[in-house]
Amino acid sequence: MKILVLNGPNLNLLGTREPERYGATTLEDVTTRLDELAEELGVVLWHVQSNHEGELIDQVHEAGRQGFKGAVVNAGAYTHTSIALRDAFLGTAIPFVEVHVSNVYAREPFRHKSLLADVAVGAVIGLGAQGYELGLRGLVAKLRA
Ligand code: DQA
Repeated sequence: MKILVLNGPNLNLLGTREPERYGATTLEDVTTRLDELAEELGVVLWHVQSNHEGELIDQVHEAGRQGFKGAVVNAGAYTHTSIALRDAFLGTAIPFVEVHVSNVYAREPFRHKSLLADVAVGAVIGLGAQGYELGLRGLVAKLRA
């Protein structure tokens, strides 16, 4: 079973970006941990990070064409703005878990709105970088239930 791990804008800076908020774990660390977990779970991951909305959408379409069964998604700020990314998931019917490293609900009001939340399978929010692993575990359990 192939799962897309999609990271949006500025998540390439994880580990150095506002470390008091986002922690010291880098995206490379996240990728390594997720690949280890994927092996344990018997799934295959495809990691994509882009700072460009259209590129993220193109990669969701590609995952759809290639028969991916699910996605773990941290869309960064596009979570709060991108109808197009929401439509890409609806258009490909790829079930996904929404992940946020920080607790967006304890932050500015503009982060309280997610354009992905109501079409996601579930969400892991505010638990730091381990949220990606929790999200993958939860998604795979759901897909296999
Ligand atoms: C984030 C939260 C977003 O509001 C923010 O724009 C990000 C990171 C998180 O993981 O906490 O880039 O998605």
